[in-house]
Amino acid sequence: ARTIAVSGSASGIGEALAGMLRDAGDTVIGIDLRDADVRADLSVPEGRASAVAQTLERCGGRLDAVVACAGVSDFTVMPVKVNFFGAVELLDGLRPALAAAGAPRAAVVGSISGTHPVDDDVVRACLAGDEPAALAAAEKAERGGAGGLLYPSSKAALAQWMRRVCVTPGWAGAGIPLNAIAPGVVRTPMTAPLFADEAMVQVMNEAVPMPLNGHAGPEVIAEALRWLISPANTHMTGQVVYVDGGAEATLRGAGL
Ligand code: NAI
Repeated sequence: ARTIAVSGSASGIGEALAGMLRDAGDTVIGIDLRDADVRADLSVPEGRASAVAQTLERCGGRLDAVVACAGVSDFTVMPVKVNFFGAVELLDGLRPALAAAGAPRAAVVGSISGTHPVDDDVVRACLAGDEPAALAAAEKAERGGAGGLLYPSSKAALAQWMRRVCVTPGWAGAGIPLNAIAPGVVRTPMTAPLFADEAMVQVMNEAVPMPLNGHAGPEVIAEALRWLISPANTHMTGQVVYVDGGAEATLRGAGL
């Protein structure tokens, strides 16, 4: 059995993945604001440090996989705090425990939104690892009525960070594949308010067209994550895998 840390384990995709892994006999260390083995707030540096410390204590310094699912999708600075810095600091903090395992794996949850327009200042500051600058740029966007760019910015930055670090000595050099699943629109508590609003469903279908089998449930995304962090994945790293009913292929066509 493997020991796997999953953030965002209390709801949606993280909850589905944690359940699947537990059913298969793995030990899951769930990390979330509530209803979790490790309760911590990934939106702030102290909370991230606490999540890392608590997880390291529970796993005894050796982890077979880490999956960063925790996320928020509002139009404030929160996506930058949780989706980018929360995921990156969790993965960085747990990387030594991964390196201590025999077949370590890591994955993050990106989004089709990462292909949508972004705030370049926010993305640049995220990639520079400068949270104060990223939050200053994000607050400026929010004040200027461009808060809708912040979720896509957080996910674009996360995907770019993943692609940069995956080939470095700390990840590839330590034998740790690091990939992202980018979902289209998934039926979870995060999107429930959108599905309840007919006009929003229209907007959503235009922004994220899903010609293949429509909207997925969280277990579809969890299955893909499960393979990425399985021992079978020895050579795929740095990939953003769209599990999106064809949204990315529709929006970007032949371009890659
Ligand atoms: P959800 O809202 O059902 O679950 C998210 C979980 O993250 C919750 O349990 C929440 O408590 C936790 N979380 C939020 N802020 C946190 C914080 N500061 N500290 C610790 N935990 C925190 O959402 P869902 O749909 O399962 O989303 C999971 C991931 O998938 C997110 O990263 C989201 O951005 C991404 N995603 C979701 C899509 C969808 O359509 N549902 C589409 C594309 C990406």
